[in-house]
Amino acid sequence: MLPVTADLVLRNVALPTGRRADVVIAGGIVRHIGAPVRADETLDCSRYTCLPGAVDMHVHMRGGAQAEKEDWRTGTMSAVAGGVTVVVDQPNTVPPLTTPALLRARIYEAEEQAVCGFAVNASVVPGADLAGMRDAGAMAFGETFAAPSSYGEGLDPETLRGLFSCIHALGGLATIHAEEVRGPAPATLADHDRTRSGAGEARAVRGVSDLAPEGLRLHFCHLSTAASIGAARGTVEVTPHHLFLSYEMFEDDDTRARVNPPLRDEETRRGLWSRWDAIDVVASDHAPHTLREKALPFEIAPSGIPGVETMVPLLMAAVREGRITLASVIEKTSWRPAAILGIPRAGFEPGDRADYAFYPDEITRIDASCLHAKCGWSPFEGFAAVFPEEVIVRGTRAYAQGDFRETHPAWYPGQGYLSSKN
Ligand code: DOR
Repeated sequence: MLPVTADLVLRNVALPTGRRADVVIAGGIVRHIGAPVRADETLDCSRYTCLPGAVDMHVHMRGGAQAEKEDWRTGTMSAVAGGVTVVVDQPNTVPPLTTPALLRARIYEAEEQAVCGFAVNASVVPGADLAGMRDAGAMAFGETFAAPSSYGEGLDPETLRGLFSCIHALGGLATIHAEEVRGPAPATLADHDRTRSGAGEARAVRGVSDLAPEGLRLHFCHLSTAASIGAARGTVEVTPHHLFLSYEMFEDDDTRARVNPPLRDEETRRGLWSRWDAIDVVASDHAPHTLREKALPFEIAPSGIPGVETMVPLLMAAVREGRITLASVIEKTSWRPAAILGIPRAGFEPGDRADYAFYPDEITRIDASCLHAKCGWSPFEGFAAVFPEEVIVRGTRAYAQGDFRETHPAWYPGQGYLSSKN
């Protein structure tokens, strides 16, 4: 039934069908599209492109013992200012999320601080209480480290096989960090690319696909080459840094561009774009480290790049430049990740989650001093981007013209939590 008074009416929204209509929101969901009703608040959207809020299914919000790098407040402010309304936190925290108690404490920390929707994944390591964490609300299992990375030890194939069969029995989604690591610690970005090669990544993806039990849902995180996408059995994710950056754009020993999997050369980067249609999800792998940590010698500097705030803005600039379609950005940043995770979809039908970001026409340039992550730097400095001016989280104007307003962040538990309560 149409509510007598709505919480918020978005006026003159350009719908994906091309029609303009009013979106009537109450209780955090879309109630009606079309006829205007009385509302506590209205927002005229006629000069904006409206996107459903992005679901960034791969972020490291840090917090806890690593709050110097980032915390849930700054990390989710950064998300919202970039049009992301749900973040999925990875479990390679300090300590890693291996028990229901640790998972619950993490969710509690997020509930206290987050300014947007969030979910938390469970760590996949020997001895982890996978069933307990499923029941406690873990969204997915992983990223599972099939190779070592920052705050994660690589698992051998036999261990992986055993853990995968547990996840399969629990009906879970396994998310995988697949790489092959060879040789000594790298001293330059080109070395890093050789040590964790694109060919090795594709082999690792194939190996993991082959050893996983039939029927296990697999999701491959941050694939950096076209060949890896071709090798995957499951859904595939890529990052903005592998799409927009090559190591050739940086000084040889610039540790800020050090990330796992590594940035590739220009040719490989272009090859990744050639598979745009085959990419299920774009996720940021937001992995902030402080400039002090990044000032360490290359061999020992931590890997990771901040990116939750710049992900959709970079893609929106590519839309404005006519390189990709708006529909593909909506699909890969919002609808597909929500479907893979089982999170209600944000959109334009009655019953949809009322999460949106509104983008102006103008392209601007990324300026790290204007971003909200604690680390204060970005490898995308100077890149073309379109930032949202208004962001709605659960039917509330969370961010307007650069200011953060009151929000009602929501925790999205995994499907196992919901079934364990029935
Ligand atoms: O570069 C990376 N940094 N890759 C990962 O897999 C982990 C991440 C981190 O947590 O810093």
